[in-house]
Amino acid sequence: MENKELNQKLRYLIGLLAVIPLAIVLLLGLLVAQMLGLRINVDIYWKETANTANNSVVVTKPAEAKASLPTLWQAPDTSTIPQDEQGKLIRYGRELIKNTSAYLGKNGSVAKMSNDMNCQNCHLEAGTKPFGNNYSAVASTYPKFRERSGTVETIPKRVNDCLERSLNGKPLDTASREMQAIVEYIHWLGKDVKKEEKPAGAGILELAYMDRAASPEKGKIVYEKKCFSCHQLDGSGVPDTEKGGYQYPPLWGKNSYNNGAGLFRLSRFAGYVKANMPLGASYNSPLLTDEEAWDIAAYVNSMPRPDVRKTVMKNDWKNIAGKPIDHPFAPFADGFSEEQHKFGNFKPIIAARKK
Ligand code: HEC
Ligand code: HEC
Repeated sequence: MENKELNQKLRYLIGLLAVIPLAIVLLLGLLVAQMLGLRINVDIYWKETANTANNSVVVTKPAEAKASLPTLWQAPDTSTIPQDEQGKLIRYGRELIKNTSAYLGKNGSVAKMSNDMNCQNCHLEAGTKPFGNNYSAVASTYPKFRERSGTVETIPKRVNDCLERSLNGKPLDTASREMQAIVEYIHWLGKDVKKEEKPAGAGILELAYMDRAASPEKGKIVYEKKCFSCHQLDGSGVPDTEKGGYQYPPLWGKNSYNNGAGLFRLSRFAGYVKANMPLGASYNSPLLTDEEAWDIAAYVNSMPRPDVRKTVMKNDWKNIAGKPIDHPFAPFADGFSEEQHKFGNFKPIIAARKK
């Protein structure tokens, strides 16, 4: 009897002894996993900061980096557009930005008054994409004085500028439901931005100027590698035969933006393309070097397009000293040529202006 009891106790003890190393192994395993987990976190965190610093959006000290990563503007959620008359107008405005050609294009249901491009072709994701030429700073900064017209411009005036230049068309009646809808939508997008403020990520990325003139020849080589598959070798794009408008919008030729448009300025084109093209690129994962962006801009903007110097542009720049350095048409307040104002080198022009 006694022996049996002793035996059982012994077995119990041996069992317990066997469990201890098992527990230790388990604990060690957990510890290693935890450490690995930490390592993974650290890696991701470093990649993020490296990426953003690269685009000079933010410079951070490691310890504070997480807290001060750039908070770029984010559009309000469309599900919060009110369900009333005003909301209806906002939604119509958004629709007009996305599918402009269906309403105002060559076969537009409201008016036939522009080429078949959509506002969204250049103001990406209905004017909400960071550095995708978004509208985040419009409601907060207009009305504002602009040198091009030499007047204080309202939002409708600015919208009509794009209609007459970027869409190479006619202006909308300011009192029309379409204009009111576009303005309502732009106001709604910018409703959380403080007056006079320009949020991070607004508009178009500003690229550093090169130390040389941009080269159409170099740009052609890159275009024929990275752009032609969608925009075509002849720059005419690919029409959308089902929905109207374009599957891939034109970059030059009679259906493209005219030579009074914003994209005709090299810095606007280069900055837009760097942060958005080829399709899928973004400001923090660009697919072009700065030089490629400048050179493609030079190539595309040396190809033929509608000329509005004698019509739409005839009242521009009453103050010629107010022309941006990359406005490509004489007369200028400085001694640099049209060629240099169009392609660069821009650095000597900037230096001369500082004197
Ligand atoms: C071919 C390209 C293109 C198309 C199409 C286009 N725009 Fe623009 N738009 C631009 C460029 C470029 C600018 C100037 C951005 C800058 O200088 O930062 C601009 C500027 C604007 C601005 C002022 C933005 C600001 O922050 O000051 C508004 C508003 C605007 N566009 C509205 C429209 C509307 C509405 C449409 C459609 C009817 C339209 N645009 C179509 C290229 C385009
Ligand atoms: C995979 C197809 C694709 C490629 C490749 C591509 N794009 Fe685009 N591009 C688009 C689409 C689609 C739009 C219109 C976006 C929208 O409406 O949302 C666009 C719009 C544009 C616009 C503004 C609208 C216009 O027609 O003026 C420019 C400028 C532009 N692309 C330049 C380029 C350049 C330069 C390259 C080469 C570096 C390039 N794209 C490569 C598909 C492409």
